[in-house]
Amino acid sequence: MSFPTHRPRRLRQSAAMRRLVAEHRIHPADLILPVFVREGATEPIPLQSMPGVVQHTQDSLRAAAAEAAELGLGGIMLFGVPETRDATGSASLDPAGVLNAGVRAVKQEVGDSLVVMSDLCLDEFTDHGHCGVLTADGVVDNDATLEIYGRMGVAQAEAGADMVGPSGMMDGQVAVIRQALDDAGHQDTAILAYAAKYSSAFYGPFREAVDSQLTGDRKTYQMDPANRREAMLEVSLDLDEGADLVMVKPAMSYLDILRDVAEVSDVPVAAYQISGEYAMIEAAASNGWINRDQAIIESVLSIRRAGADSVLTYWASELARWTKEGRL
Ligand code: PBG
Repeated sequence: MSFPTHRPRRLRQSAAMRRLVAEHRIHPADLILPVFVREGATEPIPLQSMPGVVQHTQDSLRAAAAEAAELGLGGIMLFGVPETRDATGSASLDPAGVLNAGVRAVKQEVGDSLVVMSDLCLDEFTDHGHCGVLTADGVVDNDATLEIYGRMGVAQAEAGADMVGPSGMMDGQVAVIRQALDDAGHQDTAILAYAAKYSSAFYGPFREAVDSQLTGDRKTYQMDPANRREAMLEVSLDLDEGADLVMVKPAMSYLDILRDVAEVSDVPVAAYQISGEYAMIEAAASNGWINRDQAIIESVLSIRRAGADSVLTYWASELARWTKEGRL
């Protein structure tokens, strides 16, 4: 009988040993909390399909941002839910519009203690729910949309956003936003490019979160889940256009893409653990089918392991609390 000479189990024998040799960890500074702020809300409105997540009032938004800063999160990403929508999403440009007002309030609240980011996309603001404006034939008009994105970027920078997150997958969006920001004197406002964003069924709960009006799909601008090589094209275009960070989204069904991007990117890489990923774990856990906390930790660790420097996750504050309690 011959016994093994290599015994990897030695390093797994105790929690202390496993902690010592863990190759990846979850650290609050690597987490970004996505939040929703709803115009006219007088109290936080819980989301059915995302238990634990709410549409904030301006006040509860401030409180969530203050807590995020206190917990040492890396950033906070704001999404606005406006009361009125129109064909061109004009509320997105209004300095007093829900998103810009939210950014201003959060920036006032947290200053430079965490990075304040805002979603730069039209879908929350249009009455048809698309990420851009439409041609007479109902097709999303790339270049007409870019013109609005540029102005939106400036409005968000003026409200105090440290970083804008173009998520509409229009061709050339990073370049146009960069130019608009620079022309308006906002050279220091960074761009987190949603570089490889796939057309995903897992965005489902987000549509409730922003009361999306979309009928149909986003397949003419978001990427086809079948494609891997194309993600590299999207990333290299965004890098050429001046992206400060690049993102892969969703996260868990796209860990291969995340790994590919992490291997070639010379800027930091983010990944977005989206609404459906959150909802699936919460739903299975509430049925007692999986261990909630373990599943959350494992899911976020897998995204870090695949190559994400930063992770947008709706569990960001909870995970940071666990770190403080010594559970991570
Ligand atoms: C578009 C946008 C979406 C998400 C973030 N930005 C929705 C979409 O592309 O349909 C989804 C985020 C999530 O599902 O958690 N502004």
